[in-house]
Amino acid sequence: MSASNKNIVILISGAGSNMAAIVRAAQQDQWARRHRAHVAAVISNKADAPGLLVAREHGITTALVDHKAFDSREAFDAALAAEIDRHQPALVVLSGFMRILTPGFVAYYAGRLINIHPSLLPAFTGLHTHQRAIDAGCRFAGCTVHRVTSELDHGEYLDQAVVPILPGDTAATLAARVLSQEHLIYPQAIERLVSA
Ligand code: GAR
Repeated sequence: MSASNKNIVILISGAGSNMAAIVRAAQQDQWARRHRAHVAAVISNKADAPGLLVAREHGITTALVDHKAFDSREAFDAALAAEIDRHQPALVVLSGFMRILTPGFVAYYAGRLINIHPSLLPAFTGLHTHQRAIDAGCRFAGCTVHRVTSELDHGEYLDQAVVPILPGDTAATLAARVLSQEHLIYPQAIERLVSA
């Protein structure tokens, strides 16, 4: 990654616990001093996303681009890109961002766009990953950090973590176990990218 100042823009739709883990890691591990990298902004497509408050508590610039205000995916993605580009990002991090992005948006950010997905890809793309893994009788589940391509939940895998599925697990208990691993591998994968 060549830019001298490496701005990271994080997109969220909800709780933002992965975003918070990234912000914490950036602060604790001094990404600004060591890698010239910092979280420049957190952008949500939902006004009531709790993660917006969390980001503000950390002193991070936030913005809202409400998808409901646009009548097409293309119009929403164009407004989103305009907001992202105000921060000239080296990396755009999807962090529980629950919108499907247009191929044009993905192509525009090619090489700078990553996501975390709550399954061991290529298994269980899409939604309800934990319940589907339980229903399928899997013994293990996990999460995947990957580059984003125009095909949903595909793209080069940057890291994965595995957790057991235990007797009596529900989607909620499994999600919590997976999420604790997400909070470890997402910041680590991002630090590897911004330190390269
Ligand atoms: C995380 O489990 C993330 O992997 C998942 O949403 C959750 C967001 O939690 N993302 C997807 O399902 C993307 N398709 P968070 O808002 O607390 O980080």
